[in-house]
Amino acid sequence: MDTVAVIGAGQMGSGIAQTVAAHGMKVLLADIDLATAEKARGGIDKALGRLVGKGKLEIADAEATLARIEAVADHAPMEQADLIIEAATEKEAVKKAIFEKAGERLAADAIMASNTSSISITRMANYAPDPARFIGLHFFNPVPVMQLIEVIPGLATNETVTERTCAFARALGKEVVLSQDEPGFVVNRILLPMINEAVFVLGQSTAGIADIDKGCRLGLNHPMGPLQLADFVGLDTCLDIIRVLHETTGDTKYRPAPLLVKYVEAGWLGRKTGRGFYDYSGEEPVPTR
Ligand code: CAA
Ligand code: NAD
Repeated sequence: MDTVAVIGAGQMGSGIAQTVAAHGMKVLLADIDLATAEKARGGIDKALGRLVGKGKLEIADAEATLARIEAVADHAPMEQADLIIEAATEKEAVKKAIFEKAGERLAADAIMASNTSSISITRMANYAPDPARFIGLHFFNPVPVMQLIEVIPGLATNETVTERTCAFARALGKEVVLSQDEPGFVVNRILLPMINEAVFVLGQSTAGIADIDKGCRLGLNHPMGPLQLADFVGLDTCLDIIRVLHETTGDTKYRPAPLLVKYVEAGWLGRKTGRGFYDYSGEEPVPTR
C-alpha cells in the first residue's frame, strides 16, 4: 500500500494515522471538517514529540512521519488511496453515511475497511460500493503500542482482499488474529463483559473504583483495572459495544450495567471528556466513587 485514507480522527484514527505514516505510507486524514482533522494532526505532532523527548525517535523521523500525514477536508482526494480505513464514532448510521459517501471515491482495486469494535462487517459491506472489497480491520488502543490487529472478513469478502489486508497489518509490525464476523469478534466479546461486570460490581457497592481496579491490576496482572480501561476506551464506545452484543445475541448476560448507561447520559465519557470513573482534571487521575 502506498496511500491510506483514515476517516475519523479521534483517538483511534489518530493512532492509526501515526502508525501507518511511521511505516512509510502516505496518509490522508479526514474527520467531520478540515479544522478537526488538522487538530488531530497537531495531536499526532505532540505524540511524536513525546517520543522524541523520551529519546525513542529521531527528530528527522518524527518530521518525516508528520510530513506524510495530510489533513483533508473531504473524501475527494481518497481516489488516490489503496485502502480507506473508517475509524469514526461507533454508530452504524454514521459509518453507513461514510461508506456511501467515501465509497464514491474508492479506486478500482482499493479496499474499504472498518475499525468498528463490534458492528457486523457483513451488514456494513452492503453500504460500500463492493462488498467483496470490504473488511474489518480492528486496531487496539493505543495503536502505536498495541501489537494486535484483528482482521474480520465479512461473508462476501474476497479471499485476496483478506490476504492483502493481513499483509498490510503485518507491514505495520503487528500480529494478526483472524476472526469470523460474530458480535464483538474475539477480543471485545471477552473484554466488554468484564468491563460491564466491573461496573455492576461498582453499582452494587461491592468495592469502590480504586479497589476494583487495584484488584484486577494486582490479582490478575492486568496493566490497567477494568474501570480505568473503560475510561481509556471511552464509556460511550464501551456502551455501544455491549449494546451490540446484547441486541445481536439477545442474551441477557450482555445487558449494559445501569451505571454505565447513566455515566454516558451524564456525558462522563472517560479520559476524552476529562471525567469518567476517574477525574482527570489534576496531575493524577482521582477515583470519583
Ligand atoms: N504513541 C507511541 N508510544 C506510546 C503511546 C503513543 N500514543 N502511548 C504510550 N506509548 C508508549 C510509551 O512511550 C511507553 O514506551 P516504553 O515502554 O518503551 O517506555 C509505553 O507505551 C508505555 O507507556 P507509558 O509508560 O506512558 O504508560 P504505561 O506503562 O502505563 O502503559 C499502556 C500505558 C500501554 C496504555 C498500558 O497501560 C496498557 O497496556 N493498558 C491496557 C491497554 C489495553 O488494554 N488496550 C486495549 C483496549 S481495548 C481495544 O482497544 C479494543 C476496542 O475495540 C475497545
Ligand atoms: P473518538 O470519539 O475518539 O473519535 C471518533 C471520531 O469520529 C471523532 O473525531 C469524530 O469527530 C469523528 N466522526 C464522527 N462522525 C464522523 C463523520 N461523519 N465523518 C468523519 N468523522 C466523523 O472514538 P474512537 O475511540 O477513536 O473510536 C473510533 C472507532 O474505533 C469506533 O468504531 C470504535 O468502536 C473503534 N475502536 C475504539 C477503540 C478504543 O479503545 N477507543 C479501540 C478499537 C476500535
